[in-house]
Amino acid sequence: MAAGVADCGLSEADLERWSDRAGDAVRDTAERRRKREVGFLDLPDDKNQVRAVLDFARALPSAIDTVVVLGIGGSSLGPHALYSALGRPLDALRPRAAGLPRRLLFPDNADPATFEAILEICPPDRTLWNVVTKSGATAETAAQMLVLFERLAAALGPEGARRQVVVTTDPSKGALRRLADKLGLTAFSIPPSVGGRFSVLSPVGLLPAACAGLDVTGLLDGARAMRDRVLEPDLKQNPALFLATALAAHHQDRGRPMVVMMPYADALFDTADWFRQLWAESLGKANDTDGKPVHVGPTPIASRGATDQHSQLQLYAEGPDDKSFLFVAPRERPPLALPKSEPALAEPDDYGYLAGRDMGALLDAELKGTIASLTRRGRPNALITLERVEAHAVGELLMLLMAACAYAGPLYRVNPFDQPGVEEAKQLAYAALGRAGFEHLTGQLAAARDPDPRYRF
Ligand code: PA5
Repeated sequence: MAAGVADCGLSEADLERWSDRAGDAVRDTAERRRKREVGFLDLPDDKNQVRAVLDFARALPSAIDTVVVLGIGGSSLGPHALYSALGRPLDALRPRAAGLPRRLLFPDNADPATFEAILEICPPDRTLWNVVTKSGATAETAAQMLVLFERLAAALGPEGARRQVVVTTDPSKGALRRLADKLGLTAFSIPPSVGGRFSVLSPVGLLPAACAGLDVTGLLDGARAMRDRVLEPDLKQNPALFLATALAAHHQDRGRPMVVMMPYADALFDTADWFRQLWAESLGKANDTDGKPVHVGPTPIASRGATDQHSQLQLYAEGPDDKSFLFVAPRERPPLALPKSEPALAEPDDYGYLAGRDMGALLDAELKGTIASLTRRGRPNALITLERVEAHAVGELLMLLMAACAYAGPLYRVNPFDQPGVEEAKQLAYAALGRAGFEHLTGQLAAARDPDPRYRF
């Protein structure tokens, strides 16, 4: 705001100019929610769904120590963010031992090198595979699943293979639902009104989280509490609407099309990665809601504090003034005291400023320094503070960001809940693989096949 960064910030008059549009964004979304087109706001109220995932996780044999999520985009980034935020740090790298929570793995791509390694490190009888695809049609996930079924059947027989797989997909449509019905696989549903990148609080996120022993009830309590705060059409009363409006205004009125999310807690970096998809896929659109070509959209960037102070901050502070910054940090961190005195240090003066301090205080100081440095230069920034990185606060944070995204859609005059660009690339990949029914698209692949020979080196 102008109060912090003077002319570089937004004034009360700027907000006033946006307030009608902002109110309309809330009313628009409420109407789509009422028509059951937009379902993410209601996920925290679905008690049956929580019971089902918790029952499933409770009934899992204790011999299962790993759950691999086979999904991509919104079918993987949400559960990954939850695991990083709420699991033990570096959990997936720890040796497995009886009584410990299950680890989660997210191959998240159809890279044969990674996937072969995943199969190698996950013994078939100790691993549950959660195939997640809302459409049931995503080729990367299908390819992983086909290899998996072949390997599992070879190791455990068809019946054994069936027991090691659980799917999450549309309740009635799509190839994966048909397969699950045919094979009698355990299946969880994603409500039709909830798209991939808004699905973290559906079984897409909750099932892996429950299997890993994360606090899904606390997560949903937090999400519900935040949901109740973000339904208000008054810009000054609604934190999600305020966030969406401030970012849109910095973009559209002040020429700052990029937004950097920079958590100062490793546990929240994958939340920034999830946010990157949420913001990009929802708001980057060719056409506005009237079908007029607009080619709009902010560019989200995920950055890690303090690591990226030593990598990106030089650009952020001194490069072009084309970014807004969104810092996220916990107020309380786990303690790790630095020694008060260290006899091995020959020159205590050099490191004395650290003596007896907490490592977390260092991270806080780095954050303070970064905020000060950007603010001093008139680079607009906001800080989202969590009391601690725990389930309730993370639920609040995720709901805040999803609601902000839903409201940013109408502020950019685009539909935040579709992704025609993603669908087009999926179809072109089918054409490239020679899938029947997609022959009419093969002509469009020429651009990728035949680069201009003058620029081939
Ligand atoms: O948010 C979205 O809709 C996309 O990112 C999808 O999640 C992604 O393309 C994967 O789709 P699906 O879940 O159908 O496999």
